Amino acid sequence: MEQMDVRALEASVNGKKVLNGVDISIQRGKIHVLMGPNGSGKSTLANVIMGNPKYTVTAGLINFNGEDLLKLKVNERAKKGIFLAFQEPVEISGVNTMNFLVTAHTNLRGKDPELRKEITKKMNELNLPDSFLKRSLNEGFSGGEKKRFELLQVMLLKPKIAILDEIDSGMDIDSVRMLGEITKNLSKDTGFLMITHNDHILDYIKPDMVSIMKDGKIIKSGDYQLIEQIRKEGYKQLI
Ligand SMILES: Nc1ncnc2c1ncn2[C@@H]1O[C@H](COP(=O)(O)OP(=O)(O)OP(=O)(O)O)[C@@H](O)[C@H]1O
Ligand SMILES: [Mg+2]
Repeated sequence: MEQMDVRALEASVNGKKVLNGVDISIQRGKIHVLMGPNGSGKSTLANVIMGNPKYTVTAGLINFNGEDLLKLKVNERAKKGIFLAFQEPVEISGVNTMNFLVTAHTNLRGKDPELRKEITKKMNELNLPDSFLKRSLNEGFSGGEKKRFELLQVMLLKPKIAILDEIDSGMDIDSVRMLGEITKNLSKDTGFLMITHNDHILDYIKPDMVSIMKDGKIIKSGDYQLIEQIRKEGYKQLI
């Protein structure tokens, strides 16, 4: 089983210690939901796994199929099949959306003569008009459009491990349903770390694992029933 293991991970950003010993595993083919209060370190964990150089790892390890990921740069981790859909996708003026997708896909998966057709087909599925392909990356995309565009990248790049950082926030009800169906379908082959505050995604997917982060640590793990418990009681009861 292909698997990413995060062990005793500590990390800081701008001199502030944010992760205080995180233990979590993500298995290819499974959905792991990560929840927790604002500021608990979920996005930090996502960025550290991806190798964002703004964050400094001070202890612990991240292994993927037994290989030390911490030694690798962002693009090398991407090549291993790790993908991060950002909580706040950045607008990049002057970077053409189509070129971005083609370059990313070619770098990670090699040349594919059918790619352009595939892109339009998937965009159609996601209700993203083709005219977006002519625009600058994310520039002027609405909140929900940016999130659907992140999902498009997961569909095209087919990573082994996909970290979705609040991809459902800002999505309308129909988009959340679509997200659920697409994720469920992709999870046959991809392992998901799905960071979310919303339990309605559960109407469409049944996560294999649920972990709760607080103060830079996983304070509880369980199955989907843990979400039911939080829905009723909030996070306070867990602590
Ligand atoms: N660049 C930075 N400089 C200083 N502090 C930072 C920086 N980035 C993150 N932090 C702090 O680290 C903590 C964790 O932030 P993080 O974004 O990981 O939380 P989160 O769990 O993703 O929260 P949310 O649910 O609101 O998205 C917060 O207190 C945040 O202010
Ligand atoms: Mg966050």
